[in-house]
Amino acid sequence: MQYGYFDDERREYVITRPDIPVSWTNYLGVQDLCAVISHNAGGYLFYKNAQYHRITRFRPNGVPLDRPGHYVYIRDDDTGEYWTISWQPVGKDISVARYQVRHGLSYSVFSCDYQDIRAQQTLFIPLDDPVELWDVVLENTGSKVRNLSVFSYCEFSFNHIDIDNQNFQMSLYCSGSSYHEGIIEIDQHYNPDGFHFFTSSVEADGFDAVRDSFIGPYRTETNPLAVERGVCSGSTELGGNHCGVLYKRLQLSGGASARLVFLLGDGNRQTGAALRKKYSNVSVVDQAFQALQAYWNEKCNAFQCRTPHQGMNTMLNTWNLYQAETNVVWSRFASFIEVGGRTGLGYRDTAQDAMCVPHSNPGKVRQRLIELLRGQVQAGYGLHLFDPDWFDPEKPRGAGFKSPTVVPTPNLKDVIHGLDDTCSDDHLWLIPSICEYVKETGDLDFFDQVVSFADGGSATVYDHMKRALDFSAAQVGQSGICKGLRADWNDCLNLGGGESALVSFLHYWAMGAFIEAAEYLGRDEDVQTYKALAERVKAACEKELWDGQWYIRGITAQGKKIGTQKDREGKVHLESNTWAVISGVASPERACSAMDAVDRYLYSPWGLHLNAPSYTTPDDSIGFITRVYQGVKENGAIFSHPNPWAWVAECKLGRADRAMKFYDSLLPYNQNDKIEIRQAEPYSYCQFIMGRDHTAHGRARHPWLTGSAGWAYFAATHWILGVRPGFAGLIIDPCIPSDWKEFSILRRWRGATFRITVQNPQGVMKGVVKILLNGEEISRVIPPQQPGSSHAVVVIMG
Ligand code: IFM
Repeated sequence: MQYGYFDDERREYVITRPDIPVSWTNYLGVQDLCAVISHNAGGYLFYKNAQYHRITRFRPNGVPLDRPGHYVYIRDDDTGEYWTISWQPVGKDISVARYQVRHGLSYSVFSCDYQDIRAQQTLFIPLDDPVELWDVVLENTGSKVRNLSVFSYCEFSFNHIDIDNQNFQMSLYCSGSSYHEGIIEIDQHYNPDGFHFFTSSVEADGFDAVRDSFIGPYRTETNPLAVERGVCSGSTELGGNHCGVLYKRLQLSGGASARLVFLLGDGNRQTGAALRKKYSNVSVVDQAFQALQAYWNEKCNAFQCRTPHQGMNTMLNTWNLYQAETNVVWSRFASFIEVGGRTGLGYRDTAQDAMCVPHSNPGKVRQRLIELLRGQVQAGYGLHLFDPDWFDPEKPRGAGFKSPTVVPTPNLKDVIHGLDDTCSDDHLWLIPSICEYVKETGDLDFFDQVVSFADGGSATVYDHMKRALDFSAAQVGQSGICKGLRADWNDCLNLGGGESALVSFLHYWAMGAFIEAAEYLGRDEDVQTYKALAERVKAACEKELWDGQWYIRGITAQGKKIGTQKDREGKVHLESNTWAVISGVASPERACSAMDAVDRYLYSPWGLHLNAPSYTTPDDSIGFITRVYQGVKENGAIFSHPNPWAWVAECKLGRADRAMKFYDSLLPYNQNDKIEIRQAEPYSYCQFIMGRDHTAHGRARHPWLTGSAGWAYFAATHWILGVRPGFAGLIIDPCIPSDWKEFSILRRWRGATFRITVQNPQGVMKGVVKILLNGEEISRVIPPQQPGSSHAVVVIMG
């Protein structure tokens, strides 16, 4: 069953029926203001910080689904009937009212056709101003004169999510609302920064700023008293729950239309007044919308592909990049169901996110890398979860939040955790991410930039990388394999002093990236030192981790091997087998055998399971994974994030058909007509899909903010389509299904544009025999070209 379709031309997903089993969300805002909005216009707005600086309220994981939101009600004043432009919260019968939602790149358009009134509400946040615009157009498509009332609605937050959800008295008695000259202002009595505003481009005929006056007792957003009566009460109060309701009467003759813009933002009445003045001119609204579209076109044009695989084209050209970018900008701060609102960066997640989009967002990637380097301690490990503002020398501590009175400003000593809380992998992801950034941008000076450590002192970026490698070299267990510590990439594998195969493979991989950089920089001594170390790590891995047909996952502190042929549960694990191959540790024979085991034991038409069979018996020497329900999350679900690792591994082996089989199984696009099972958005990778050991096998959960997005994008662009920046040139090394005869790519790299055509006359899966740059044959890689120039590249496979 499907609920919508991809509109590639407009880069939109079009929802044609709104009664989807779960919320399908979108993220608006690319700078400091963010709205998370569902296909029902349910959702919330925050400024910079989803935990401490909320603007509107949301009741997450609630019933009814998706409440409250940023709604527009329409009332027919001749009949008293009313509805919303989004299907919910009024929820008209969809057989008589026609709804459509277009989720686009940082905007959503809700539309409704009902009783000869065509209504449209576009939500977006301009690039330059921290305000959410609700651009509303109503058209009378009939011939009769219509008398209508329009009501906006949103519920304000008390800034601080914990107060919204817990210490209600603070919000109930310390926030107030007022209305003056067309602007509702919310203030928090004791907090000089706690102002929000709501206003509109037109003079309102009424307003309500007190939620309970507008909704009425024993009612919900479905049937607000004020809308039912067709009149607002002009409520304001010091204390209480507050809302943004502006009410406007309109008379539309047949064929006539009206446009009005509501503005919701952070700041006081003066801020609201200035923005109101600006955006009351609808041509400024149009320009802001066009600028947003141009912003995204520019990003998308850093990489565009045209392949025989329509789903891949749609996802890589628009949705997969959009999701990966959203992760770099909003990290794991705020989602709809799984994460209410958080502060801070997860070390490993951010490092991996940053690796995947340096071509489309070098500025944000660089910012994230610096933040991560500042979150590294001198001993070399990263702080597992930290707020980047704590370590930003430019910011007085606590200044990142606008509510200083309710946000604790930590003593830095207290936030620097010791070994007990350290994850064994966090710091290792940073090294390839730094290298990818430099390969993309050519910014070699970045290696020499001096950056502080979280616990004092500073070093160059290059030396930060060495500290990370040295930390892992020191933290090894009895077999010479890296210790698992609190956890490795898998949060639920808690091996402590036991050993993690994954981390030793990651260590080897990170050393490979570092050695390549050191060689390029001519730092020969380091090249020798780390090559010798890498050889030792490789030897330990091959000796200790091979189990005859595949690689084990680790060794408990008591010396028991995890993921062996003898195991009944947790027999084969995705992470160790893929990384044995990606890292380059596995010999070609072992690599093929390990990936064959992945295919045999872990494949399903919904993607690759993380491990199988699921654990049924708690075993604390392995970790929390054994206590998670079978087929859910880390215990035998199809965990999306490591799936692309298998695509990379198969590409390294040149087995494109297998890589594509794995790619296709996870591709959300391919599940567009299986929503009765998948449930979640078909335009977003989800964190996990219920595994075969669960009754809801195939159900996807936790969309948007997951490392799956970046890795899916990275693996498909760098390894399947095979366009990878190197320090000295752009590498083209595709691994494609043998029946692809040709595909093309538009790639911007170091300021120049390359129009690449790959031809595959022999029907091979891998192997390049010739590269022509502007008609001239070149030997290996495409060297950097003049910024602003454009080049034709022809690649012949064979
Ligand atoms: O790797 C982690 C990630 O950091 C947070 N979500 C779950 C993943 C797997 O445990």
